[in-house]
Amino acid sequence: VTTEPTHDGVDARAAHDVRAGRGVPETQDGDDVPEVWRAWGRQRPQPRGRHLDCAAAGRCSWDAQHAVAEHLRREAELGAYVAQAEAAPVIEGARTTLAALLGVPADGLAFLESASAALAAVLRAWPLGERASVAVVPTEWAPNIEAFRERGLELVELRTEEHGRVDLSHLEQLLTTSPPSFVHLTQVTSHRALLQPVAEAADLCRAAGVALWVDAAQALGHVDTATGADVVYATSRKWMCGPRGVGLLGVAPRWWDLLYVRHHVLAPADEPVVRAMESDEANVAGRVGLATSVNQFAATGPAAVWARLDEVGRQTRHALADLPGWQVVDATDAGTAITALRPTAGQDAVAARARLLSEHGILTTVSTPARAPRDLAEPMLRISPHVDCAGSDLDALAGALASC
Ligand SMILES: Cc1ncc(COP(=O)(O)O)c(C=O)c1O
Repeated sequence: VTTEPTHDGVDARAAHDVRAGRGVPETQDGDDVPEVWRAWGRQRPQPRGRHLDCAAAGRCSWDAQHAVAEHLRREAELGAYVAQAEAAPVIEGARTTLAALLGVPADGLAFLESASAALAAVLRAWPLGERASVAVVPTEWAPNIEAFRERGLELVELRTEEHGRVDLSHLEQLLTTSPPSFVHLTQVTSHRALLQPVAEAADLCRAAGVALWVDAAQALGHVDTATGADVVYATSRKWMCGPRGVGLLGVAPRWWDLLYVRHHVLAPADEPVVRAMESDEANVAGRVGLATSVNQFAATGPAAVWARLDEVGRQTRHALADLPGWQVVDATDAGTAITALRPTAGQDAVAARARLLSEHGILTTVSTPARAPRDLAEPMLRISPHVDCAGSDLDALAGALASC
């Protein structure tokens, strides 16, 4: 966030409020945030301004940054491959914890470079015949649809309820009458507050013998991702606050023997097939940094983080509910920490996002229709704070939006 280069975030924010003519925020910074979440904030650098953009990328802790830098130093000192071997226990520890979070055994987890790379890898490996199909909801993340099209898959549309949640009775019916090759759901939608009932869908799919794939890019570190899905893929950098350039793929054991992985054909017979999907050339320092982020997440307590993010989402939608010129798109209790705001007075959301950043030091994202053309008719502002979000952050955002 481009504000004064000072490490005193509170002073920098106060200076912004004064320059923006908004005086002192209604709530003093952080006073209303429980100590456990203030401590979470102290584990990482103070944002220069207000960071309300974890759905793009979260804030890496000091310890995770240190772990990355240390590994890079070890690569230079020992040689990259010796350093990688030295770091193996750390990476294997992260594999075990992450696999549990994704609901697969450790041998069913591969580290890749991004969620998209993980999807591409599983699309290459999965046993898909001629005329294979995938069932998706209209809110689906557009790059996933593109990847399915490139793979030659026929798209089948799943019916949804009012707010975009998959209609489970229609899914059950579809699985009986004309089952697709697999079902794909994005557990936490990127562009608005929408949480899919993935565990329930997994039960229905398993009973019908159809695989359920889950995009957990926005879900890992945000909600419970151990849902019983057959495939689940995610990224380090968003709600888990790990380094960029690391993605994850989990595959349930019942599919391992059916995967075709070129590397695995050449690998030692006892190498687990999903691990053989990992790239040889990789951001090993990023994986080491992610291991630290995951340990910190586990120490804080996953269930506590999930509950707090649910609360932060409610607080955000509540605080912005009656804002003139902006409409909160989803229900207050939608269950995620992502909030979408639709401009209702003809504002340009792209320009508003830019002004929030340059004039108020508030970092957000604009979701353009290209991200989900079937669901987004116009650009919308996306607000996605993490667990240390204070009432003053939301007050400042509301005040700034009044002039955007
Ligand atoms: C729902 C969803 N799926 C997939 C992705 C792609 O993740 P990556 O950039 O790690 O490939 C994103 C990224 O924003 C996302 O929000």
